Amino acid sequence: MSIAFLNGEFLPLSEARISPLDRGFLFGDGIYEVVPSYQGKLVGMVPHIERMQSGLASIGIKFDWSMDKWQTVIDQLLEQNGKGNLGVYIHVSRGADTKRFHAYPDNVEPTVFLFCYDIPSSPTADASKTKGLKVNTQQDLRWQRCNIKSTSLLGNVMHFQQGYANGYHESLLFNENNELTEASSCNAYIVKDGVVITPPLDNQILPGVTRKILLDILRKDGSITVEERVVNMHEVKNADEVWITSSSKDIAAVIEVDGQPVADGKIGPVWQKAMQLFSEQKFNY
Ligand SMILES: Cc1ncc(COP(=O)(O)O)c(C=O)c1O
Repeated sequence: MSIAFLNGEFLPLSEARISPLDRGFLFGDGIYEVVPSYQGKLVGMVPHIERMQSGLASIGIKFDWSMDKWQTVIDQLLEQNGKGNLGVYIHVSRGADTKRFHAYPDNVEPTVFLFCYDIPSSPTADASKTKGLKVNTQQDLRWQRCNIKSTSLLGNVMHFQQGYANGYHESLLFNENNELTEASSCNAYIVKDGVVITPPLDNQILPGVTRKILLDILRKDGSITVEERVVNMHEVKNADEVWITSSSKDIAAVIEVDGQPVADGKIGPVWQKAMQLFSEQKFNY
C-alpha cells in the first residue's frame, strides 16, 4: 500500500484528503518537485529542495522547512514505501482559503503533500540496451515563467499530449524566433562536432536538476566540451545527436525528430560517454 505524507501525517495515499478550496486545486498555486530514488539512494535531493525553496520564495509562499527536516520526512516516506525504485513527488501549495479570490491570502497554512510511485530501474549507459526516443516539434505556447516549477502544468500537459497522441515519446518546443527552448517535461540538448550544446537558463526553461548535475559532471571531467547558448531549430534538425534530460529519464537519446532520423538514426558516441559518466557519479549529488 502506498503511504503518503500530508500536512504532518503519514497515511495511506487512498485516505489523503485536501479541501476543494486549496489554492493548489483552484489555481495551480503551488510548487512541486520529483526526486528519483533507487533502492533508497536519492539523486540530487539538495538541488531539488533548493529549487523548490527558490520557487516558493518567488511566489511568496512562506515555508521554512530546513534541509534536515526535508531529509527526515523523505527518508521516513521511503522507509514506509519499501525503498524500491521510487519517484518522490513533493508538493507545497499556498493552502486552503475560505473563499475563491485571486490575491494571495494572509495567514493561510501551506499544504504539504508527498507520495511515492514506482519508476523503472536506473537507466543503463549501454546504447545496445537503450531505446532511442522519437519526438516531434511544436511552437512553445506555455507561459513566460517556465523557470518556476509551478503545479500549473496544463501548458506542458497539452504539449506532451499533442505529441503522445501522435505516437511520439516527447515534444521539443521552439519559441517565436525558431529557437529551441526545452521539451514538454525535459531539458533539451544537441551535440555537434563533439560539443554538447544546450539553451541557456532564462525564463523560457526550467533549470533542470539533471541538467545542472550533467553539466557539472561534464565540465569537471573535461573530455567533452559543453556550451550553454541559443540553439535554433535548423541546428536541431542537423545535429549529430539530440538528447533530453529529466529526473525520471536521466539522459535520453533522441533518434528521430519529426519523422526524420537524427544523423544516422542511431544512439551516438557522445551520449554513450556522457551517460557513463552520469551513471557513475549521479549518486554523489
Ligand atoms: C518542463 C520541464 N523541463 C525540464 C525538466 C527536467 O527537470 P529535472 O531534471 O529537474 O527533472 C522537467 C522535469 O519535470 C520539466 O517538467
